[in-house]
Amino acid sequence: MNTVKTVRELRAAVARARSEGKRIGLAPTMGNLHSGHAALITKAAQRADFVVATIFVNPLQFGPNEDLATYPRTLAADQEKLLQAGCHLLFTPSVEEMYPHGMNDQTIVSVPVLSEGLCGASRPGHFDGVATVVSKLFNMVQPDLAVFGEKDFQQLTVIRALVRDLNMPIQIIGEPTVRDSDGLALSSRNGYLTPEQRAIAPNLYQVITRIGAAIRGGDRDFAQLLETGKRDLAAKGLRPDYLEVREAAQLRPATAEDTDLVILAAAFLGTTRLIDNLHLTKD
Ligand code: PAF
Repeated sequence: MNTVKTVRELRAAVARARSEGKRIGLAPTMGNLHSGHAALITKAAQRADFVVATIFVNPLQFGPNEDLATYPRTLAADQEKLLQAGCHLLFTPSVEEMYPHGMNDQTIVSVPVLSEGLCGASRPGHFDGVATVVSKLFNMVQPDLAVFGEKDFQQLTVIRALVRDLNMPIQIIGEPTVRDSDGLALSSRNGYLTPEQRAIAPNLYQVITRIGAAIRGGDRDFAQLLETGKRDLAAKGLRPDYLEVREAAQLRPATAEDTDLVILAAAFLGTTRLIDNLHLTKD
């Protein structure tokens, strides 16, 4: 696996692979990789011949009081994991390489409506930052397909919309969330949790799983289910940011008639904000 830091080197390596007739797969990340990221690479390697991973902690998607400075950077360990998972090329640009003209006057890609509620409500501008950097990476690599984790369900929905709206010929693949044995969704931010908080954290998944079981069993009183769910989270020591049932394709508030539903949750443990979701597919 080669690691390159410039767009020029990246384009040259991808062009070589493409000239050999290879299908290009992309897995954008912010590093500090865990098994969830490895699953993205594995999926890309199953569907493409040449897998490009990117590690870039994108300042544009962090709010002023968020963890940009402390976000874990573990390049050597990440390179090893990428190699094991079947990655061919790693792109690790600097902020200057990604934003050579600075970020203040940077063209912004904004996906309206989808970016506004849920995580967008408590992280204003976050999805503009994600949509912008992902668009740039798509233009730099021009992959045939790109893989993103379903754990960031709203992000995945935003990216599907931007590819559709901007006519990018890229297949977007969602990879199921990888969980610890106690159900906690893997996340780089789990590393911020104290042992006590780590013991509480799986309650987030337990609560959405309980709501999911009730909905699958025919309960359509979403308001009541969510109120109980928020109370359960608080009782376990989690501070709910949001807990919602949405229609899964467009993320509009769910109605009793909807059949493709997703339960989305975000909650704080101390200053760490965890997110999770449960997609209740029609079957
Ligand atoms: O999901 C992430 O790690 C990031 O939001 C992404 C997609 C790599 C964009 O910076």
